[in-house]
Amino acid sequence: MSVFVVVGMQWGDEGKGKIIDLLTEQADVVARYQGGHNAGHTIIFDGNKYILHLIPSGIFRADKKCVIGNGVVIDPAALAEEMQMLKKLGFDYDGRLLISDRANIILPYHRISDQQKEGDSGSRKIGTTGRGIGPTYSDKIARVGLRTCDFIDASQLQETIKSNYEEKKKILKNLYGENLPDLCEIVDQMLAHREMFVKYVGNTQSFLRDQIAEGKKILCEGAQGTMLDVDHGTYPFVTSSNSTAGGACTGLGIPPGKITRAIGVIKAYTTRVGEGPFPTELHDGYGEQLRNDGAEFGSTTGRPRRCGWFDAVVGRYAVELNGIDKVTLTKVDVLDQLDTIHVCTGYRHNGKAVAGMPASLAVLEQCEPVYTEYPGWQQSTSGIRSFEKLPDNARRYVDSLQDHLGVEIPLVSTGPGREETIMRGELL
Ligand code: GDP
Ligand code: IMO
Ligand code: MG
Repeated sequence: MSVFVVVGMQWGDEGKGKIIDLLTEQADVVARYQGGHNAGHTIIFDGNKYILHLIPSGIFRADKKCVIGNGVVIDPAALAEEMQMLKKLGFDYDGRLLISDRANIILPYHRISDQQKEGDSGSRKIGTTGRGIGPTYSDKIARVGLRTCDFIDASQLQETIKSNYEEKKKILKNLYGENLPDLCEIVDQMLAHREMFVKYVGNTQSFLRDQIAEGKKILCEGAQGTMLDVDHGTYPFVTSSNSTAGGACTGLGIPPGKITRAIGVIKAYTTRVGEGPFPTELHDGYGEQLRNDGAEFGSTTGRPRRCGWFDAVVGRYAVELNGIDKVTLTKVDVLDQLDTIHVCTGYRHNGKAVAGMPASLAVLEQCEPVYTEYPGWQQSTSGIRSFEKLPDNARRYVDSLQDHLGVEIPLVSTGPGREETIMRGELL
């Protein structure tokens, strides 16, 4: 019996898609537990690049089952588009894709509200993906959301949208001067996608528990990252779900005692999209170099990602919070050309060392990173598959990060493709 959670350790885009696709080979089921199509998980194999937003990254392995859990929020149009893309490319998912009957649906007024709030000068801009994620989770918690079990029931669908419509219409009109489409139009839009969903929707929590009882291996796919978690991240500059490992229990209905391991994914440097504090952010040529060499542009929105040095305070926080005992390190090759590399080993605030991750953003924003400097290796590591073949300085860098994090790094990624990977220890 094995249930693994794969979780991002920074602010998202750590390379989870690549790692999950790779680990899926050893799993039976891959299950997404939170987030929505704000995520963008890139998978590259056989010379082709795929970006998934909602469907689990295990879908490209033909015999694996993929679950979209109750903790995910689903935009029916976005899911339909992704399903069509897979079908067109020849990846069959019938009988393999299961959607929880308890997941919440993103409705047009959620998307409009997200975008209007972000554009409104009176509101604090989070830099969201504008996909309606926050408002959908708000409605879920306020108990006025539309769940998949009701979405596939035409009369329930109409009733739920109708019961919310007048309130949403007034709010959007009064706050932003925005006209919500007619009720019938919204209902028809949703009904148009309903048919496509019906055969995939079911009780995924009991399915997963049965799979666990049969001794199957379950890989729980996290989206976003630890620092974007609504409880533990840089609130309010976070997403609206629990992206940390605990989210896998609530977002899939898996009992906590059944989770066997949390595996972290971390980049050899740090990036962040959107607003919010980022202690090791670089505003100089090094930042520019990381962005260019790492192709750091969002997989979902195309926005340039903010880049900075590796932050071991963030890394250790993620290790502790998620109970990570194995770390996968990605994008080491992106550092190839740097003459020098910095690692933040601690923060100082008002001249004093800070213990742990400050809760207060005001404090975090004033924290000064304490750096240790490492020499670069200035030669290509791209695609290297054996740890011994890495330049000495690259090996030392990886080993130092292992020491800073206090956990083993059995997997080092040297390129975006499946094969561009060093396995130097057991992961699962
Ligand atoms: P995710 O959201 O965590 O799945 O990450 P994204 O897919 O949004 O962003 C990671 C990007 O880095 C993608 O373009 C990947 O193809 C790419 N990538 C992943 N691992 C590596 C690596 O080791 N080296 C390089 N150069 N690129 C990588
Ligand atoms: P993956 O799974 C990086 C960020 C947004 C914004 C904040 C809130 O690919 O790692 P939201 O639309 O969720 O309300 O936006 O969270 N964000 C991500 N950043 N990777 C992601 O997903 C992200 N999903 C959301 O940029 O700062
Ligand atoms: Mg991404």
